[in-house]
Amino acid sequence: MAMQDSSVKVTIKLAGTANVGQILKLIAGEAKASGAVTRIGKAELDKWISNGLSYVAIHDGQVIGHEGANVWPQSRFVELRSAVVNKEYRGRGIGEKLNGRLMLKLHSKYGGWHAIAFVNSAARSRGMLERAGFAATPAGALPESYVRENGNIDYIVRHGYTIFTMIV
Ligand SMILES: CC(C)(COP(=O)(O)OP(=O)(O)OC[C@H]1O[C@@H](n2cnc3c(N)ncnc32)[C@H](O)[C@@H]1OP(=O)(O)O)[C@@H](O)C(=O)NCCC(=O)NCCS
Repeated sequence: MAMQDSSVKVTIKLAGTANVGQILKLIAGEAKASGAVTRIGKAELDKWISNGLSYVAIHDGQVIGHEGANVWPQSRFVELRSAVVNKEYRGRGIGEKLNGRLMLKLHSKYGGWHAIAFVNSAARSRGMLERAGFAATPAGALPESYVRENGNIDYIVRHGYTIFTMIV
């Protein structure tokens, strides 16, 4: 059993290469269980980690939460990715803390850029994103430069994702 005690000690920290296996497993498990996130590969995660844009929540030495971000430098966008908290640890503010740390980092490194997050119907992150300042944005309002650089917006729209954006 994970925990009943809401005061359980969870540490939020920058992910390192030693965390890669557990992060990939956490994300793949959630992708399979709910489809709220998509599976990612090691190369993609390595990029977020080397940019200092991947945070983990650790309990008892285990990764129990993650959130990362991808950078789209030509259009000056950062994209929130793979926000997952282990099911047994949800509803205790861990997701909100991970998001808070990541948003602070984005603000300090990419202040003035846009942040974007794609949220499908299985995802549970809407409240967290709105509290952080994100608002739902029609795909047609995205700048052409970003649509071109990302290359995936047609897919996002076809699959009914809500697009959240804000300025960091
Ligand atoms: C989104 C997610 C990371 C949030 O993590 P968390 O640690 O549960 O976050 P918080 O504790 O800050 O609470 C988030 C919400 O869950 C609600 N909640 C409360 N108890 C809960 C429980 N036992 N289980 C799940 N959610 C619960 C909270 O009330 C809060 O709702 P609100 O944001 O609508 O106000 C987590 O729910 C998750 O991994 N979901 C599946 C993956 C996912 O949806 N990722 C987002 C992709 S865009």
